[in-house]
Amino acid sequence: MPTAVPSSDSIPASLSKSPVDFLVIGAGIAGLSAAIRLASSGTVLVVTKEELAESNTAYAQGGIAVAMGGDEDVALHLEDTLVAGDGLVDPVAARILVEQGPQRVQELLEWGTAFDRENGELMLTREGAHSRSRILHANGDATGKEIAVSLLRHVRSLPNVRLLEWITGIDLLVASDEGQRRVVGATLLDGEGGVLTVYARATLIASGGAGQVYSDTTNPAVATGDGIAMAWRAGAAVSDMEFYQFHPTAFSMANAPRFLMSEALRGEGAYLVNARGERFMDRYHPLLELAPRDVVARAITREGMDGPVYLDMRHIRKDLKARFPGISRFLAKYRLELNRDLIPVRPAAHYLMGGILTDVSGRSTLPGLYAAGEAACTGVHGANRLASNSLLEGLVFGALAAESMVADLSRSVTSPPAAQTGMPDPEELTPDEQTERWIQDLRANMWKYAGLLRDAQGMETMQRMLHALAETMPRGRSRRAMEARNLHAVAKMIVTSALARKESRGAHYRHDYPEQDAAALHSVLERDVLSFRPSFQRMAVAASDVTTHP
Ligand code: SIN
Repeated sequence: MPTAVPSSDSIPASLSKSPVDFLVIGAGIAGLSAAIRLASSGTVLVVTKEELAESNTAYAQGGIAVAMGGDEDVALHLEDTLVAGDGLVDPVAARILVEQGPQRVQELLEWGTAFDRENGELMLTREGAHSRSRILHANGDATGKEIAVSLLRHVRSLPNVRLLEWITGIDLLVASDEGQRRVVGATLLDGEGGVLTVYARATLIASGGAGQVYSDTTNPAVATGDGIAMAWRAGAAVSDMEFYQFHPTAFSMANAPRFLMSEALRGEGAYLVNARGERFMDRYHPLLELAPRDVVARAITREGMDGPVYLDMRHIRKDLKARFPGISRFLAKYRLELNRDLIPVRPAAHYLMGGILTDVSGRSTLPGLYAAGEAACTGVHGANRLASNSLLEGLVFGALAAESMVADLSRSVTSPPAAQTGMPDPEELTPDEQTERWIQDLRANMWKYAGLLRDAQGMETMQRMLHALAETMPRGRSRRAMEARNLHAVAKMIVTSALARKESRGAHYRHDYPEQDAAALHSVLERDVLSFRPSFQRMAVAASDVTTHP
């Protein structure tokens, strides 16, 4: 029987006494897409770390890739996704993404998402490694924001869904159910440092990625890998954590943020030029500036050794201020204009292909726990995500996770947990300044030793640093202390997996192992035990059960 969610918007101390059916951690595209479907089957509590507007989704500029042109278009989208993923894409997951994408995007249109149009027709742009123009965009370069706003509007109209802001996940609650461990909710930190215990019959982690594990990132401050770390501490398997995508073109100027210079700029014809003003991508890939992201990012790093690398759009006659209003506003602060100036860029951490191991229905290896979006790893992106496939992933797999949460509901229970993972001691509190220094130290060293170009020596150095950092880990129940603990966990997962993968593939490049292995294997970490496995979908429901989404 569905249970009642308290109606007041204040922090509900009563939540622990009145469990919810569905707890959704994260309010980006995956979390909201799931919440919409869950709402008709029970009570839904969606929690988010800052304001609802603040998620990685809202920062997505370029657009959402979708094959709206029928079967041939879908087949090409699948092929591009497989090629970009460098041999490691799970073909079942990728097929679901491209086949169900058009229906999910059609729903977005029905819910009022205003994608850009020309003469009434949806406008399409192109990005790296896409064989044709298939990327929808909104307000020029504010696609994620427009989608987030329309999803939120829809969610707010659903009486069964409760949204709580300024809530940080602490740990999952794990109960023993006839000898089997099962997730029965989570402990959460509110904005004032109070701890909430929320029991739920099914818990979805949709809290996004962990770009903040690197000093240089396009991700907002909230992207600290909280959900992935919570799942890993609870004993859920995580996978492919060594595959971190570095976006080739983040703004590069001293003391300026690493603001994303969307790949759509290159889609509209931008050249990449080196310090001598020469285009250089012809030395690296036949697709030139529109090569897969990992190839472009490494090429920029190599060219950038002799000086800065620039985006050059001075030859483009289109009004770029109108096409890219957000980027233009940002550049104006530095007295730069797309049509007039060279724009200095270099790579920055952007997107985690790995995450909580799930099947295509969002089920993790722990009953009661589901994951979707960037926090999850279905294998849909393999070793390198195709540009603008991430919003589509959140939309499609958020919906599928919701379906399995509903389907599994009859088997679920909410009972007090037998064991709780690693609740920090509330008495000890590391001063803020010290916590900040500790975090910045970790991020800078991750960038240096486990970033875009890797080798055993650097990663072993990082491993020793992580060991030492564990000794001085910030303590207490502040949000920043939680984030420090989560960033440390994510860093450890990345370094452990990257050291074990003795090949170069997609976003994972090792100087000491530059070749690709013949066998394409996924890394799987369960607590500290790492293995390599051929495919995820061993635990999935049959593909035929999920490809026909209503
Ligand atoms: C971009 O606009 O370049 C980012 C889009 C994406 O990450 O797919």
